[in-house]
Amino acid sequence: MNSEKIEIFDTTLRDGEQVPGCKLNTEQKLIIAERLDELGIDIIEAGFPISSPGDFESVSEISKLVKNAKVCGLTRANKKDIDTAAEALKSARKPRIHTGIGTSDSHIRYKFNSTREDIIERAAEAVKYAKKYVEDVEFYAEDAGRTDNAYLAQVCEAVIKAGATVLNIPDTTGYCLPEEYGQKIKYLKENVKGIEKAVLSCHCHNDLGLATANSIAGVINGARQVECTINGLGERAGNTALEEVVMILKQHKNLNLHTDVNSRMLNEMSLMVSDLMGMAVQPNKAIVGANAFAHSSGIHQDGVIKNRETYEIIDPEEVGVNASSIILTARSGRSALAYRFKHIGHEVTKNELDYLYLEFLKIADVKKEICNDDLRLIMEAFKLENRV
Ligand code: KIV
Ligand code: ZN
Repeated sequence: MNSEKIEIFDTTLRDGEQVPGCKLNTEQKLIIAERLDELGIDIIEAGFPISSPGDFESVSEISKLVKNAKVCGLTRANKKDIDTAAEALKSARKPRIHTGIGTSDSHIRYKFNSTREDIIERAAEAVKYAKKYVEDVEFYAEDAGRTDNAYLAQVCEAVIKAGATVLNIPDTTGYCLPEEYGQKIKYLKENVKGIEKAVLSCHCHNDLGLATANSIAGVINGARQVECTINGLGERAGNTALEEVVMILKQHKNLNLHTDVNSRMLNEMSLMVSDLMGMAVQPNKAIVGANAFAHSSGIHQDGVIKNRETYEIIDPEEVGVNASSIILTARSGRSALAYRFKHIGHEVTKNELDYLYLEFLKIADVKKEICNDDLRLIMEAFKLENRV
């Protein structure tokens, strides 16, 4: 069976940039946008043009720069936002307007002091208005994760009739369980008239640590676009991490789904975004964390030295990391020590290793990690003592 493509919608420059302290200037956004385009991203959400003159400028400049990806601008469901986004996107080769409104009862009551019927009207009007400017209009039903499915289906039907080409079903508050989110997508696939004319999109936040799991449940149930960010950056606990989605689909071939992202650029992208945003990546972050391919316990190290596959499900080169690393700590064993000595040019015999290992443990018990310089000192002391 032919594998189906999942479109990757990157919102690092919009939702990702909403992280406190992660503000980027236009020049930095252009650097990231250019690399995202090379990475093979299908849609780059460049910003929210009406939010500030700086954001308007960034969306406009990114529109001029990007060669392959669609460039998208966010709006609320009103004419002024849409006019401004259309103006910012006017140089884009493939422009997309992303408009929408809150659809959960809590948003309808507290944010809009409105009714379900009125929200449907406003949603459809916004999409119709955006269609005056661009063919490609994505609609987001904000807080869809907590929106009643039957009502959500009515909203989707109305915006498809108005011309929406993509339906974004955000779990804005990161509330859903994977099963629940997957069922929501399935329900919409089965119950929205005209759904074949639009692509369903997942946009999941990570408040309960379920953003990636929910997005994967979404694509398994029929969504064909995932909205995500490099390093999982985004409001509060963040968004779905792009690198995780790409590698899950790559590693689980049985899902018959793929992306066009060049996974070998993932590590470099992660470092660049972390650097420009001044936002460190947690060391144990899946795929791109500093420890993602580091082995430190003796049992694991012994296995990996014999054959990488014993404890690694991804070849590090697949994500742009040269090789896995063998970290020396007090939990490491003899084979890791011999491996690292060999790495710095010392082949040691079994008897030598027994002696060196005891010396190594003395230091490892008081130091977090043993580096190559420590190993050299251990070796020098050994040579002096044994007059080698
Ligand atoms: O989380 C969300 O609902 C959003 C929308 C504005 C798409 O970011
Ligand atoms: Zn969001």
